[in-house]
Amino acid sequence: MTEPSRNVELKAHDPDPGRTLERALAAGAEERGLLRQRDTYFAVPHGRLKLREEDPGGAMLIAYERPDAASERVSDYRLVPVADPASLRDALAAANGVAVVVVKRRRLLSWEETVRIHLDEVRGLGSFLELEAVAPPGSDLTRERAQVARLREALEIRDGALVEGSYSDALMAAGDDGGPVGAPDPDLLELARAAVRNAYAPYSHFPVGAAVRTDDGRRYAGANVENAAYPQGQCAEASAIGALVAGGGGRIAEVVVAAPSRELCTPCGGCRQRLREFAPDDAPIHLADLERVRRTTSLGELLPLSFGPEHVTA
Ligand code: THU
Repeated sequence: MTEPSRNVELKAHDPDPGRTLERALAAGAEERGLLRQRDTYFAVPHGRLKLREEDPGGAMLIAYERPDAASERVSDYRLVPVADPASLRDALAAANGVAVVVVKRRRLLSWEETVRIHLDEVRGLGSFLELEAVAPPGSDLTRERAQVARLREALEIRDGALVEGSYSDALMAAGDDGGPVGAPDPDLLELARAAVRNAYAPYSHFPVGAAVRTDDGRRYAGANVENAAYPQGQCAEASAIGALVAGGGGRIAEVVVAAPSRELCTPCGGCRQRLREFAPDDAPIHLADLERVRRTTSLGELLPLSFGPEHVTA
């Protein structure tokens, strides 16, 4: 059997990825781009086995063993390029069963050629950062351990932020199968923030972006659109709902409202009713600024005892 590859790794919660990015760049890291990754973990008897599908990029089957430890740890792994990921996923799922699916958006940086920095937004879990020092064959890992320690210091990763185990364990512990509980869908969050940048708010100077995801996976965004005749202004949520209807309509499964404001930006009363038309009571509504998700609520919490379409048809 061929020897596995080895890494020295560290994983931590990252409440402020923007600041971490600044620190990493100041420490000499180089940006390597944004990736969307979907990891399907199969229920296997030894170690871990996942199919990673990456955009941009291809697919890999990854088998690895890693002891869970909160501080830096050594991982042995094998990577196999995959030409037909959909068929392999079906075959492995039929033979083993799927344990969990982890969906994330990853900003990849590299440092000192061989160290990878991952700034991850994991669906259902939140923001994390990972360091991976890749070891050449035969390394006794002294150099890789020292690299991780130096980078940890430069990024100011505190003991309390360190995370044991993998994203898959955390999602399984949360009883989640990769669905939108906890942290928002990273793409939806990004869409809402992009809409903030395009908001037309010359009168209030209060730009807002909203994005909705349908239960069949489509995403639509909108921004507030103000008007010199003030009452004609439209909220971001109303714009997003307009885009949803123009795009084919459907049920809303998740909402993000983003505004770079000091106070939490909650949907106005009118928009709560607009959302009520298309979203169930338990649809998560994430209230964010440009750096973090400040609160996750639901339509039922924002608009209790509400009146909706089923009341009209009853
Ligand atoms: N606004 C929204 O677009 N969505 C909200 O959830 C709250 C308020 C807009 C309306 C107006 O253009 C500006 O914010 C100030 O009220």
